[in-house]
Amino acid sequence: MERLLVTGGAGFIGANFVRMASQRYRVTVVDKLTYAGNRASLPEGIDFVEGDICERPLIDELVSATDAVVHFAAESHNDNSLRDPSAFVQTNLVGTFTLLEAVRAHGTRLHHVSTDEVFGDLALGGTDAFTETTPYNPSSPYSATKAGSDHLVRAWVRSFGVAATISNCSNNYGPYQHVEKFIPRQITNILCGQPAKLYGTGAQVRDWIHVDDHNAAVLAILERGRLGETYNIGADQPQRTNKQVVETICDIMGGDYIHVADRPGHDQRYTMDATKIRRELGWRPRYTDLRAGLEQTIAWYADNRWWWEAGKGDVEKQYAQRGQ
Ligand code: NAD
Ligand code: DAU
Repeated sequence: MERLLVTGGAGFIGANFVRMASQRYRVTVVDKLTYAGNRASLPEGIDFVEGDICERPLIDELVSATDAVVHFAAESHNDNSLRDPSAFVQTNLVGTFTLLEAVRAHGTRLHHVSTDEVFGDLALGGTDAFTETTPYNPSSPYSATKAGSDHLVRAWVRSFGVAATISNCSNNYGPYQHVEKFIPRQITNILCGQPAKLYGTGAQVRDWIHVDDHNAAVLAILERGRLGETYNIGADQPQRTNKQVVETICDIMGGDYIHVADRPGHDQRYTMDATKIRRELGWRPRYTDLRAGLEQTIAWYADNRWWWEAGKGDVEKQYAQRGQ
């Protein structure tokens, strides 16, 4: 395997993946450059094609020229999916379908990047965790379309023998994440002299993983994963509420936070059991100290204002319209 086609490579996780994978592979990125895509996140020396994964002729041409596809492209923000789900249905379902048809036609290996949100949520206060066999029970339009895309991949594996793997990962943080998301929103609010904004009580729990740990797991699955299998990816950190995470950011940066309107249908807790990938592929997270990972991420946003400042005002205007 020498050549990789990375869909959504100008987004947060995709761009960090390209930075890691381009040290070992010849990488071509295909990205529509929606509001979430940014060419400036990508390193030099890779091939970039601006395009939509729903366009079959383009995707056919790109898939025919690669050894494997790593599929990150998606509409990814829950709050946006509550405002207008249509792009989520189009990209996450029709886009994945289009890619599946292309890899089926060309006999190309596919890795599909998905989320822990397909499993729904867990009760606060418990210690149980999602495993690869937890039934799907998505809550938001975003997670429902990701769940549907996973089902499409499994159907193409079983019905057509497509050579695919799937990973479901917990919440990522790190450099190049769009300022609409929780951690960069709070960091950049404080950098702008504004308070951090906590939805509702802030009692919800997310299973934070550094983006480089996620991407190392994706590479391990691509290279050594068993075809047709699904792997859960999570950091096995102590459970942390959103309030605790905001308090850590405020403590590091010397900022403050306020409570704002809650997210409708807000998922309460995600906790991932990553035993399978640890046991089968020997993968381990390297960022085991969230505070240290947050300090690194905060330093990146402070040093790279040029990357996020232009889009910050619009994002905050949209949040303000919803009392958030
Ligand atoms: P992102 O929103 O930062 O990036 C998505 C990228 O996809 C953007 O560059 C965008 O321009 C591109 N894109 C959107 N529609 C497209 C289309 N029709 N054709 C081509 N490109 C298109 O998302 P992210 O946070 O980097 O997430 C990447 C993937 O990882 C998604 O599939 C998401 O579901 C999954 N995931 C994300 C997380 C997380 O915490 N962010 C966790 C687990 C899984
Ligand atoms: O679990 C994986 C998922 O993580 C990915 O599939 C999604 O693509 C990704 O966006 C993320 O989804 P969440 O909805 O969990 O992430 P978000 O960053 O939007 O919010 C994280 C938590 O913080 C959530 O409980 C809502 C809360 N929140 C969010 C924002 C933006 C706040 O309290 N304040 C905020 O300003």
